[in-house]
Amino acid sequence: MNKVIAFAGKGGVGKTTVAALVVRYLAARGKTPILAVDADPNSNLGETMGLDVPTTIGEIRETYMKNPQGVPSGMDKVNYLQTLIEQALIERPAFDLLVMGRQEGQGCYCMVNNILNSFTDKLTSHYAYTVVDNEAGMEHLSRRTSGKVDMLFLVTDYSLRGLRAVRRINQMIPGLKLDIKNIGIIVTRGPQQLSDAFLAEVAEIGLPVAGVVPHDPALLEFDMERRSLLDLPENALSVQAIERIMGEYCPK
Ligand SMILES: Nc1ncnc2c1ncn2[C@@H]1O[C@H](COP(=O)(O)OP(=O)(O)O)[C@@H](O)[C@H]1O
Ligand SMILES: [Mg+2]
Repeated sequence: MNKVIAFAGKGGVGKTTVAALVVRYLAARGKTPILAVDADPNSNLGETMGLDVPTTIGEIRETYMKNPQGVPSGMDKVNYLQTLIEQALIERPAFDLLVMGRQEGQGCYCMVNNILNSFTDKLTSHYAYTVVDNEAGMEHLSRRTSGKVDMLFLVTDYSLRGLRAVRRINQMIPGLKLDIKNIGIIVTRGPQQLSDAFLAEVAEIGLPVAGVVPHDPALLEFDMERRSLLDLPENALSVQAIERIMGEYCPK
């Protein structure tokens, strides 16, 4: 059964970092196969996991739209787009990565989008877990035909501004036609004991705090050295925090 774990929150709060650490957690426990989806055009989930990204779904769409007549003979457009998607899928032993890239520009992309969405939906069903790093608006999730999300983590830094973004996203959810089973807040770079003011704001939002990922100097070091977060040691503070969170919130 495919379980979808998704992340949303404002830019810079640590979504991509946490998403990569969740991939690491699942892979280390043999909860495989895993599909990691980078659905934030400003993001770099692949990079945090040490991968080069040759092409994105957005680029496939652009290539096709620029030359719809370019479908090789003997192929119809559906087969052709499927072949291109397969080329965009980065395969590693423990997980695969799909990068969505830019949203469409001008022109009618409905037909191409429908084909691409139905492929990515079908692809998802082949994995035990799908981990989706979203942009704040969660457009990618709301486009998927099933709309099922087993666990949505709203990520914020330890600031009231970050929490307000969480509140806005949470308020937007009912309008997105998503089927979300569970939602929790992850606070990054926060203390173990959150302040009363922060907790009062959390109480108003009405979602549980799934956990706090403390400031972890190892993340900065790995970032500077361009090392994959998948190689972080078990005793790194952020790895341990994700372990605690997933121990409680990982969809079974
Ligand atoms: N818990 C943490 N401790 C230290 N640095 C962190 C932590 N979480 C994120 N960072 C750093 O903050 C920056 C932004 O994180 P990122 O995951 O890219 O945010 P987002 O995906 O929300 O834009 C990165 O340089 C990352 O290494
Ligand atoms: Mg990001």
